[in-house]
Amino acid sequence: MRVVHTIEELRRVLGQARAEGKKIGMVPTMGALHAGHASLVKRSVAENGLTVVSVFLNPTQFNDKKDLEKYPRTLEADCALLESVGADVVFAPSVEEMYPEPDTRKFSYPPVDTVMEGAYRPGHFNGVCQIVSKLFAAAEPDRAYFGEKDFQQIAVIRAMVKDLEMPVEIVPCPVVREESGLAMSSRNTLLTDGERAVAANINAVLVRSKNFATNHTLKETQRYVVDALNAIVGLEVQYFSIVDGTTLQDLGAWTDSDYIVGCITVFCGNQPVRLIDHVKYKG
Ligand code: PAF
Repeated sequence: MRVVHTIEELRRVLGQARAEGKKIGMVPTMGALHAGHASLVKRSVAENGLTVVSVFLNPTQFNDKKDLEKYPRTLEADCALLESVGADVVFAPSVEEMYPEPDTRKFSYPPVDTVMEGAYRPGHFNGVCQIVSKLFAAAEPDRAYFGEKDFQQIAVIRAMVKDLEMPVEIVPCPVVREESGLAMSSRNTLLTDGERAVAANINAVLVRSKNFATNHTLKETQRYVVDALNAIVGLEVQYFSIVDGTTLQDLGAWTDSDYIVGCITVFCGNQPVRLIDHVKYKG
């Protein structure tokens, strides 16, 4: 496995692989890797001749600078994990390499980037589009792999790729969960053991709500999830939106769409740690 730090070096290595007829799979990450990332890398390794993983903690997507400071930085452990799952190249650039000048580009993909995370984290998706467009321009991957945990992020990246006419296939991959059901996230390392156990209720309640939904209205189901989680000490729901899985627009009734997803953000613990998850009701 090769670790490169500049776009020039990355292009050289990938150019050689492309000349050998290899397809390139890319897994963009911010580091602090876990089994969820490993599953994306394994899928890319199985489907491509070369897999490149970017490890870059992108400052432009953090609307809250404290959140950026708290984010775990573990490059050495990340490289060990990547090597063990067969990654070929790690691209770990500096902030100066990716942003030699401030990025003033504005990306706007309503309705998918204005709701939920877009509403609660202003500028977040603009930062995601800034860095992902730069990573795609640098690596020119044939396929790029993203975890469905960040359900809305995939919709925004798809819109960006379409807008910029980038010839890359976006491959969504299923959420990987801890034994307790908690969705794997780099942020989980910020939870104490007690908070981690409490956070497992997020998935448990979402799963229960699928059954509840079979004989209750959409609005009743929404209330059920919010009330059940807010009743647990240490959890506070920021939003729970039941939306169309493609447009991400709020729905009023179960009959409004054939593809229905409930997307949730919950604060957990004293610090607190912001956790996201989702559940598919239909489609
Ligand atoms: O999902 C993430 O880890 C980040 O948002 C991404 C796609 C790597 C861009 O920094």
